[in-house]
Amino acid sequence: MAADSAPVTHDTDILILGSGAAGLCAALEADPRLRVTLLCKASPTESSTNYAQGGVSAVLDDKDSVALHVADTTSTGGGLCHPEVVQRVTDRGAAMIRWLQDQGVNFTPYPPSGGLHLTQEGGHSRRRVAHVADHTGRTIQEALMEQVRSRPNVALHSHCIAVDLIVQRQAGENRCIGIYAQDTRTNAVDTYRARCVILATGGASKVYLYTSNPDTSSGDGLAMAWRAGCRVANMEFIQFHPTCLYDPRAKSSLMTEALRGEGAKLRLPGSGEEFMPRFDERGELAPRDIIARAIDHEMKRLGLDYVHLDISHKPADELREAFPNAYSRCLEYDIDLTRQPIPVVPAAHYTCGGIMTDRHGCTDLPGLYAIGEVAHTGLHGANRMASNSLLECLVLAHAASGHINETLSRDASPPEVTPWDESRVSDSDEEVVVSHNWDELRRFMWDYVGIVRTSKRLERAQHRCTLLHEEINEYYRDFRISRDLIELRNLVQVADLIIRCAMMRRESRGLHYTLDYPELDPTMDGCDTVLHPEAGRDLPLQAAVTR
Ligand code: FAD
Ligand code: SIN
Repeated sequence: MAADSAPVTHDTDILILGSGAAGLCAALEADPRLRVTLLCKASPTESSTNYAQGGVSAVLDDKDSVALHVADTTSTGGGLCHPEVVQRVTDRGAAMIRWLQDQGVNFTPYPPSGGLHLTQEGGHSRRRVAHVADHTGRTIQEALMEQVRSRPNVALHSHCIAVDLIVQRQAGENRCIGIYAQDTRTNAVDTYRARCVILATGGASKVYLYTSNPDTSSGDGLAMAWRAGCRVANMEFIQFHPTCLYDPRAKSSLMTEALRGEGAKLRLPGSGEEFMPRFDERGELAPRDIIARAIDHEMKRLGLDYVHLDISHKPADELREAFPNAYSRCLEYDIDLTRQPIPVVPAAHYTCGGIMTDRHGCTDLPGLYAIGEVAHTGLHGANRMASNSLLECLVLAHAASGHINETLSRDASPPEVTPWDESRVSDSDEEVVVSHNWDELRRFMWDYVGIVRTSKRLERAQHRCTLLHEEINEYYRDFRISRDLIELRNLVQVADLIIRCAMMRRESRGLHYTLDYPELDPTMDGCDTVLHPEAGRDLPLQAAVTR
């Protein structure tokens, strides 16, 4: 559709894309003398952060230690966690909880200890997850948003979707100097000039048919950074959350892992058999890759649509108090979790890989930072441990803003930028191409690049992905853009990156499981899968990874 208003050029010092935990925290930690513009493509509260239930992992108990948090994260990460990063992030856990409390987040207390109530989730050997009942993310998002709104140096632009990064190529050096973004209410494509850009755009789980994520998780930041020349790593490691509410009407309804931490059992419908002990001695507290595969195995073996998650043996009052969100969500679908088991299925949940960054969140492109789920820091390795993500968002947001505050020169202003050019495109007369390809892409990613993979399925997926890529790029060249088209273009790019990484990893490790290489290849310990846009070469080499 043609724009309802004329495009505008905006100038700022720090441009942050994303109003989840990472973006909001970065905005709050920016030097108040710097102008910050915060963009989000939907309403300010629509983000994965808003839906986080379990909480934030941190060492807060006498019986716990950072060494144990490091050991649990590393063991869950299947030999690919970067030790220095794990140490740095886990060291900051307690400080990040205090920072959140300072912003107004009131975590659920535990009066007997005088401290916070802590839950235990998969992979954690101790109670270590600070939470606000089971709506931690919503509370964090609201508290940080309230703080941001009170900052005179921060301008918030919602319903503005970034289309691409603007890269200045000068004297053999590239630099990110801004973005083009479409205001989805007017369709105008504005120019944002900035002295640095922070991508905090979240993950890419929408590339799968079934996902726990909101619609915002379409891998936009990842695809934009790749197109601008940044390396990405470990895209094959897509985390499937084992327990999302099964009901054809229930979109994106996660049943928090904390339910299992508090004693919920996974059972087969009909027989009621507790099947997890057959797969792992930790039972329901095994890491999520193991649980998701066990559920997938049982569903395929018995032709089931779902399995049951059962916590009905616990006192009803306790459950209603501890899990108000899960309780009311289930009731919407006529399930009373205090009396009945919950039908659950796995769904795509978290993108462990991402844009390669250093300890400050710097990417390969000067002027461009990436923080939160969009980034690959080395913390998660082949499998993210539950509740380590929000912690990572906060630690890296502090690091990136700290780096910007120290290094951004006060005088330089961004160079002139050519406005978005729409002179050679027209309104689409074939919207069906976009809707059809959305469905096709997400369906074949689910079927061929899902929880259990094979080389043949990956080849099939790659073939289809290449065709879609061509078709969508052609469509993008010819027609005016829309949010659906921008996201589809990014999703097909991210799908390609996932498939390429998966094909390069000829072993089963963490979240990547392939029937053709079912064993771990110990020679691949510490080897990330790195994709390099400029060289067009794929380097599964430790040497290729910034540590
Ligand atoms: P998000 O919170 O996803 O925010 C992304 C932002 O980027 C949004 O504002 C969006 O509008 C914006 N954006 C995206 N693309 C564009 C674009 N092109 N232009 C402009 N803006 C754009 N982790 C934990 O640690 N603990 C938990 O308990 C937990 N529970 C979870 C439960 C659910 C249901 C889900 C989905 C995830 C959960 N996670 C949890 C994971 C965690 O919530 C996310 O990894 C984390 O919130 C990501 O934060 P973020 O700031 O990187 O991105
Ligand atoms: C959950 O509450 O189960 C999600 C936790 C997470 O993804 O870290």
